[in-house]
Amino acid sequence: VSAPLAEAVAALAGVDVGVAALGPGDAADPLHPDEAAAVARAVPARVRDFSLGRTAARRALAALGVAPTSIPVGPGRGPVWPDGVVGSITHAGGWAVAVVGSAVHVGIGVDLELDGAVGDEELAVLTTAAERRRLDALADPAARATVATVLHGAKECVHKVVHPAWGVALEPTDADVDVIGHRPAITGRWTATLLRTAGALPVGTVLGGGWAVVQPAPAPTGALVVCVLVAGRWTGAPDSVNISVRR
Ligand SMILES: CC(C)(COP(=O)(O)OP(=O)(O)OC[C@H]1O[C@@H](n2cnc3c(N)ncnc32)[C@H](O)[C@@H]1OP(=O)(O)O)[C@@H](O)C(=O)NCCC(=O)NCCS
Repeated sequence: VSAPLAEAVAALAGVDVGVAALGPGDAADPLHPDEAAAVARAVPARVRDFSLGRTAARRALAALGVAPTSIPVGPGRGPVWPDGVVGSITHAGGWAVAVVGSAVHVGIGVDLELDGAVGDEELAVLTTAAERRRLDALADPAARATVATVLHGAKECVHKVVHPAWGVALEPTDADVDVIGHRPAITGRWTATLLRTAGALPVGTVLGGGWAVVQPAPAPTGALVVCVLVAGRWTGAPDSVNISVRR
């Protein structure tokens, strides 16, 4: 499934990015020493996820023409990308995806989840009343489960863009995510409207991303939901962030 997963992510990004996806059947390349130090005390499953993510990241960078390099863990726990690059890493169910692009973009967020993994208890903490109302309007349990997963994934994408760019840690209820499309469709878009100011982004800023359901084969873990956000483009002036919204 790694080729379909990478293709789905590239299609959702909609701009020129490097993408790599690896799965349970793939070997991870050795870590660079500073990367290995970051997971020296971690359990084997975490080392595997981290290593697969770093391997995917270096392959995604190679697709952009960037030579293999260490991708250290930054002070905010996010990856430290080479100069001129922004990107994001995610892992779930033994899969890892990395997306990288030019730093003309404010940032990139990618998030992978098992479809239906977001239960009602988690939703109660993650969602605003408006998000829950829209979710509860979906009668089909499969559609609801996927949309709930996208709600979670979209918020993770927003965090993965906003936190590295401005050092602001948003709460899940600081953004209102509207999921556009639902099953039987297996791909759609989403918007996240900021309910508070975050760095250079004023309250009311709308970030636009995409989502897709990808079925791994064989499928020990069920379907995967991937969310992607490629946010904006610096236009030059210090506080001029033009966030592109695609619906
Ligand atoms: C850190 C966080 C994003 C991880 O998400 P997750 O779904 O548990 O796990 P994922 O596998 O998708 O992502 C993990 C990867 O995110 C990346 N990451 C971690 N912190 C990050 C940060 N501050 N900025 C950008 N990327 C980050 C790392 O690459 C990490 O993998 P690695 O440690 O192997 O390098 C999540 O725990 C979190 O804090 N979320 C923020 C809460 C939220 O939703 N805020 C609302 C915004 S509206």
